[in-house]
Amino acid sequence: MIEKILYAAKEAGEIIREGFGKNVAFEYKTNKSDIVTEIDKKAEAAIIEFISKEFSSHNILAEESGSTNNSSEYTWVIDPLDGTSNFKHGLPIFSVSIGVMKNGETLWGVVYDVMRNVFYSAEKGAGSFADDKKLSVAENDDLSNSMLVTGFPYDIKENPYNAIERFNDFLVSSRAVRRLGSAAIDLCYVASGVFDGFWEVHLHPWDVCAGKLIVEEAGGLVTDFEGNQIDIFSKQILATNGKVHSQMKEILWRRGKM
Ligand code: IPD
Ligand code: CA
Ligand code: CA
Repeated sequence: MIEKILYAAKEAGEIIREGFGKNVAFEYKTNKSDIVTEIDKKAEAAIIEFISKEFSSHNILAEESGSTNNSSEYTWVIDPLDGTSNFKHGLPIFSVSIGVMKNGETLWGVVYDVMRNVFYSAEKGAGSFADDKKLSVAENDDLSNSMLVTGFPYDIKENPYNAIERFNDFLVSSRAVRRLGSAAIDLCYVASGVFDGFWEVHLHPWDVCAGKLIVEEAGGLVTDFEGNQIDIFSKQILATNGKVHSQMKEILWRRGKM
């Protein structure tokens, strides 16, 4: 299965790489920060065409074209281009993210970092990899020595869950905070031990389905801001190396109950 998902991600990645740096057509979605380009749609169409040839009975939940329910046990959860703003503005940080669930549990996940040409993958119970290299989360257990990453949702102007204040809180309690613009890549960097922790609100199932499994299979912990287990529909995500999780939870709580 993982080979099949890698193949689909590679096909989408080729379309994205070909479109990068070109003047691509785009439309607004919910507001002026939230855009979709013709390349997002083409990449998604290629993945869906692959699924319809190879796994025509499976369900699909895809960012740009919505869901197809065939009453299958299996569901493909697809973000064809995670990091559309970066892509549109010529910043080479974006990915293809594909998770496959069986009866609601993610069993396989692939995140393709298109411009670095690195395939992150995980299979439930079998570890996480960057190409052939096995991944493990960072050992650091001190938040003040941590490098963290976050993202801001497209409704940031409404400041959900005090997202701006919480960003500030982490800036002064860690070594550094980054904002890369692709939640799927953020999660892969937690799995790789680059970042000690990642938090964000209002993500979507396709942003986190593959990356959550990749973090967990690398030994990390993924919960909501209160430490509860989450599914891919959660409105909050806290993904860490496990060792700074409670320190990050404490900071998140400073701004009151979620
Ligand atoms: C976005 C990216 C970004 C995150 C946003 C997402 P998109 O996905 O993952 O890092 O901060 O919340 O919506 O729109 O580029 O697929
Ligand atoms: Ca996304
Ligand atoms: Ca997307």
